[in-house]
Amino acid sequence: MEDYRRIYWPAINLIGVGAIQGVVTELQNLQLNNVLVVTDKVLRAMGVTQKVTDLLAAAGIAFNIYDDVKPNPTVANVNNGLAVYQAQGCKGIVSIGGGSPQDAAKAIGLLQTNGGNIVDYEGIGKSINKSVPIVAINTTAGTASEVTINYVITDEVRKIKMVMVDPNCLASVSVNDPELMLGKPAGLTAATGMDALTHALEAFITKGAFRLSDTLALEAIKLIGESLADAVADGSNLTARTKMAWASYIAGLAFSNCGLGIVHSMAHQLGSEYDLPHGVANALLLPYVASFNLSACPEKFAQIASALGKNTIGLNTADAAQLAIDALREMAKALQIPTLKDTRFQLSDIDKLAEQAIRDVCTGGTPRTVTVDDIKQIFINAYQG
Ligand SMILES: [Fe+2]
Repeated sequence: MEDYRRIYWPAINLIGVGAIQGVVTELQNLQLNNVLVVTDKVLRAMGVTQKVTDLLAAAGIAFNIYDDVKPNPTVANVNNGLAVYQAQGCKGIVSIGGGSPQDAAKAIGLLQTNGGNIVDYEGIGKSINKSVPIVAINTTAGTASEVTINYVITDEVRKIKMVMVDPNCLASVSVNDPELMLGKPAGLTAATGMDALTHALEAFITKGAFRLSDTLALEAIKLIGESLADAVADGSNLTARTKMAWASYIAGLAFSNCGLGIVHSMAHQLGSEYDLPHGVANALLLPYVASFNLSACPEKFAQIASALGKNTIGLNTADAAQLAIDALREMAKALQIPTLKDTRFQLSDIDKLAEQAIRDVCTGGTPRTVTVDDIKQIFINAYQG
């Protein structure tokens, strides 16, 4: 018999063009009339934040903005945001952004109801109380933090990324409006899109995968194969943006319920050590980790190859599976994803990076038994290209 499953995602999810028009009604249903808006300065400068705050102002919902969230949000970001929340007597959070504002919002929301310091919550399920209500408005097709039970905060003192897996951080409402994703630069669209692909792929092959996560993950891989290149080539392509919004969303539903793998374990180290954007870190590692995992689940890689548009008819499983690796390399090249050599990565750092990666909470999900030496070798392979 299979074990039973406890499946998480937000109770309410708004997705599609115009979805932000529903935000005020959701806040009213939650009886939130004074909220902290957690966002970042780039989104504020682009006018994305204002699209939402104009709706709040028109509806008479009081808000204060905390926009100091860094690309890899820090403990200080969390503490400073919480101070604004408490000083202003806020009753809930509207988070606007990609992964960073969403992750910071989850940490702020959990500290408000649980107290203490965010470093106390590193790991799995450390909090007791549910977060304050969060309406999570996603602006990039990538991290899917708006629907997941995970968040990542950088401890700037220890220089590590703390990965938290905690159902109490789950948003009350997720919002995915592709119109908010228009006009994002090509490099950001490519990197965040490859993050979504990494979520889908790692969710599909992880040890924790099950029938619902498989269905979601494979559909996300297919949608990304169909639309990511178009969204990168023309950031105003609303059809491609809509497909990517769906892909990111459903990949998030998948991995939040079954886990990830060592692409994320290794990428977290590149993020904390060199401040490399999360999507870029995943993208440049993905084909090399996929090659490592190939022998553990060739049937699934054959399905991935097909979902990414490769013709696998008549091929044996091993040959079809290999086409998935080819497709991933071709995608990274076409999307001009940098290589590890283009970053501040130093081969002399791999002992430390690999030791930290093996302890990352995502490592347990990888389908093949992995050692510190394996991780070092994958870093070397990615560096050599
Ligand atoms: Fe990710």
